[in-house]
Amino acid sequence: MGRPRALPLAGLLLLGLCGARALPAPGAWTGSAEQVSPLITLEQLLWVSGREIGEVDTYRVPLIAATPRGSLLAFAEARKSSSSDSGAKFIALRRSTDGGATWSPSSFIVDDGTQVDGLNLGAVAVDRANGSVFVFYAFCIHQPQPCISSTMLIRSWDDGLSWSRPRNLSQEIGLDRFAPGPGLGIQKRYEPYTGRLIICGHRTLDLDGIYCLLSDDHGETWRLGGALRGIPYGHPKLPHDFNPDECQPYELPDGSLVINARNQNFYHCPCRIVARSWDAGETLPPEAVTFDPTLVDPAVAAGAVVTGGLVFFSNPANATHRLNLTLRWSWAKDTSLWQHPLQVWAGPSGYSSLDVMEPGDPRREPPTLYLIYEKGRNQSIESISLVKISLSGSL
Ligand SMILES: *[C@@H]1O[C@H](CO)[C@@H](O)[C@H](O)[C@H]1NC(C)=O
Ligand SMILES: *[C@@H]1O[C@H](CO)[C@@H](O)[C@H](O)[C@H]1NC(C)=O
Ligand SMILES: *[C@@H]1O[C@H](CO)[C@@H](O)[C@H](O)[C@H]1NC(C)=O
Ligand SMILES: *[C@@H]1O[C@H](CO)[C@@H](O)[C@H](O)[C@H]1NC(C)=O
Ligand SMILES: *[C@@H]1O[C@H](CO)[C@@H](O)[C@H](O)[C@H]1NC(C)=O
Repeated sequence: MGRPRALPLAGLLLLGLCGARALPAPGAWTGSAEQVSPLITLEQLLWVSGREIGEVDTYRVPLIAATPRGSLLAFAEARKSSSSDSGAKFIALRRSTDGGATWSPSSFIVDDGTQVDGLNLGAVAVDRANGSVFVFYAFCIHQPQPCISSTMLIRSWDDGLSWSRPRNLSQEIGLDRFAPGPGLGIQKRYEPYTGRLIICGHRTLDLDGIYCLLSDDHGETWRLGGALRGIPYGHPKLPHDFNPDECQPYELPDGSLVINARNQNFYHCPCRIVARSWDAGETLPPEAVTFDPTLVDPAVAAGAVVTGGLVFFSNPANATHRLNLTLRWSWAKDTSLWQHPLQVWAGPSGYSSLDVMEPGDPRREPPTLYLIYEKGRNQSIESISLVKISLSGSL
């Protein structure tokens, strides 16, 4: 699906053995879009709906996170007794320590009991400084509200083997409904605010719009950053009103933050909203909002991640139906130059999320991309599938 690729894997290994480290060899991986030739090297169903695994009715809202120590953590909502967005749920986790070849059995790391409007995933953030993993989820974000809305956080210091008790963020960010993600948090690599952890999500009705939570102390404390509000703000929306919804942040090499968002009411186009912040989420100026006509979207949660100067994006690329799960990539310096897409699954497909496993030596080896998505034959919510993608087109 692309241009000529870099050295085959055998060549990369040989260079590694010779210990030639100073200069990138001719043809070595430089992370340019011309070298990208995505090849699916593995696909595996991690969860199947239909009361076959843990008596869970439906698995939805998958997330994938790669840790600095090399583990892959896959999460999903395990909806206990129906496919409804509300209702009681577990957070399900599977781990892989061999690059996605094998996975631990499912563990249920959070259980909301029998709540009428139970938990919803969520966002996962990893602190590169000490590898701690944060999982955000919400309680009671649907209407009418039979309960008090809360944003909750659990943390792991051992790559997801064990988790802290849930922490209630109400003291820090209030009791207003906030639905994190669904997606991956980021940690700022460039100025301003290098090292800041950022997760983004949305609020509904009276405070509707996109908001991010920011932490400048490695996740010890969190606070709300700026808002990108819906229009008309605080009022029920009509078709084609501005209603930014579920969203995924990423950082460009110039240090700016991009938030790629679900365009819930199809304002301007059946395509993605692209918000931008130059102060790491302190403000989300409305004049910086654009729409990406290439990223046709049926209003869904999508994946986006940056690695080695490239932006990757995943969604079901169709204006009206959740089908045609597609991976795109572009130069991070000009994200309008989307390259030839890779169709991952032509059939029903819904929410997706992306992360990258960085290689030992980024000058020689490309990163490995992981895509997790809702996949089915008749309906997108039949299963959760994990795809491993080689960016250089080699195994
Ligand atoms: C993580 O690392 C940061 C920076 O070194 C430090 O401030 C923080 O206390 C660490 N947290 C834990 C739980 O180790
Ligand atoms: C979180 O704390 C608030 C009070 O600050 C409380 O009303 C709410 O019920 C708590 N949520 C959970 C899930 O414990
Ligand atoms: C699938 O996505 C590709 C790439 O965007 C597009 O050309 C094609 O029309 C889409 N197919 C369907 C059935 O939506
Ligand atoms: C989107 O999917 C619908 C249903 O399969 C199909 O009729 C339509 O042609 C697709 N759109 C594009 C642009 O392919
Ligand atoms: C898909 O739909 C067809 C026809 O509606 C039905 O016969 C079949 O059992 C369904 N398959 C699954 C896996 O739900």
